[in-house]
Amino acid sequence: MKRHGGQLPEAGTERVVILGGGALGAMAADLCAATGREVVGFLDNRKEPGSCVYGTPILGPFDLVERDAALRAACHFIVAVSDALLRLEWLGRIAAAGARLITLIHPSVACSPSASLGDGIMILPFTTIYPGASIGEGCLIEGHAGVGPEVSVMPVCMLAESSVLGHRTHIGAGSFIGAGAVTRPHITIGEGCLIGANSTVIRDIPPFKVAAGSPARVLRDNVDLDPAHAERTRQNR
Ligand SMILES: CC(C)(COP(=O)(O)OP(=O)(O)OC[C@H]1O[C@@H](n2cnc3c(N)ncnc32)[C@H](O)[C@@H]1OP(=O)(O)O)[C@@H](O)C(=O)NCCC(=O)NCCS
Repeated sequence: MKRHGGQLPEAGTERVVILGGGALGAMAADLCAATGREVVGFLDNRKEPGSCVYGTPILGPFDLVERDAALRAACHFIVAVSDALLRLEWLGRIAAAGARLITLIHPSVACSPSASLGDGIMILPFTTIYPGASIGEGCLIEGHAGVGPEVSVMPVCMLAESSVLGHRTHIGAGSFIGAGAVTRPHITIGEGCLIGANSTVIRDIPPFKVAAGSPARVLRDNVDLDPAHAERTRQNR
């Protein structure tokens, strides 16, 4: 994982293209506006080129980043889609195409200088990242979240609004932590998990499970992210 060495990326003048013209894409555009960056447009496989998302045009489908060398040279890219597998795929394809990812962090975020941040991360307003925490590439962190001391969040996770991760929590790759969920310190949540809104996680959760409640209990397998079901997910995309 490429790190920023604990330094928050400064507000900049980069021109940004956002992969995903839905709600998360609009949030990425707001982060660009809040940090002085220009949004050139969105890439979206389901929206018509030339149509707009809050006044900003859809330029074409995702693979424009691979086909348009001039766009790659002029812009930085962020993947703003909720599907963790799709995010993972496009982080890889962007890197393979030689394009540049950008990390977007709202100016109100309090981030310890000793925290480590991967590329292609979004962090929404009023979140706190505590000392020694590490956030993997392509994670999306909504507002008012708390990422506790020495917490490790692996790539392409999503932490929803007001979730709080206790000291040394470990979140496996691609997991989704629901709004208002809280983890007890030293908890491990496996990869590909989905933790329900307002849950309190007091025991480790194995990989690829949906868990919810206070205390959180496993409800079922999270088939959408389990590799055994990944092919079906890709076909439905
Ligand atoms: C956990 C979750 C994924 C379960 O969804 P689901 O698989 O469709 O489950 P269901 O709604 O069928 O509920 C199954 C059972 O779990 C319980 N349950 C569901 N969500 C729960 C939660 N957050 N806390 C406690 N219990 C919950 C239901 O009451 C039900 O219990 P029952 O079988 O005794 O009746 C979903 O409820 C959830 O919380 N998603 C996260 C939403 C969120 O945080 N979004 C953030 C905005 S981006």
